[in-house]
Amino acid sequence: MTKIVILTGAGVSAESGLGTFRDKGGLWSRYDLNEVATPEGFARNPALVHEFYNARRRNCLESAPNAAHHALARLEKDYPGEVLIVTQNVDDLHERAGSRAVWHMHGALSGALCAACGHRWAAPVEMQAAAPCPACAAPATRPDIVWFGEMPYHMEAIWDALRAADLFVAIGTSGNVYPAAAFAQDAARAGAETLELNLEPSDTVSDFDAARHGPASRIVPEWVAEMLARP
Ligand code: OAD
Repeated sequence: MTKIVILTGAGVSAESGLGTFRDKGGLWSRYDLNEVATPEGFARNPALVHEFYNARRRNCLESAPNAAHHALARLEKDYPGEVLIVTQNVDDLHERAGSRAVWHMHGALSGALCAACGHRWAAPVEMQAAAPCPACAAPATRPDIVWFGEMPYHMEAIWDALRAADLFVAIGTSGNVYPAAAFAQDAARAGAETLELNLEPSDTVSDFDAARHGPASRIVPEWVAEMLARP
């Protein structure tokens, strides 16, 4: 049975109207990563960090899955092997398209986390730092997002899945952020075939056995159709 592990990044949601980070005009050209995506930035100015993620949460609620998300959900449903999506994205567009096996390694906009006691709960659309934690009442509410300098979620399970994979596919990610940027090498070392699907060659394109370039809404459905047509 073939096991497919798919890593997705901001490029898969770009055509749904969610901003990517490093493209021209991307989020990191408009916001200082150190101020809005680090624990130190949050300690300095929690209101600014909440403003950033509240805007992204609103943006996500107004968006809808595109053809790439739908094709990946179809692959999980109809492919006679295992399909796992490991996503760096904090939106819920894979789930809204119908994918079930989705691991959010960088957290999710839908989650709130108490920085004092670690309690997690469903995020309100407008999150505020002073809102008390439902478990310990500390005014230490933060988004359940993994920031730079923090350990991504599910790492042991992800490395296990990469070691067991027959095929690793990276979709819409620039290959700038570790540990995800090393997944193609990790999977290849364990014997998997590797494929990149991205708008343009990523920074790690040379780590892949094959690559196809174009908008995710076109190249992902094409690839899924080929996978489902295989004898
Ligand atoms: P990036 O913004 O770094 O890269 C997005 C990639 O998607 C680029 O290589 C684009 O060429 C490609 N792309 C853009 N539009 C596309 C389209 N329509 N179809 C296909 N590809 C497209 O985003 P990520 O690689 O996801 O982390 O960034 C990784 C992490 O860095 C994020 O999870 C976030 C960020 O800082 C944290 O916030 C911790």
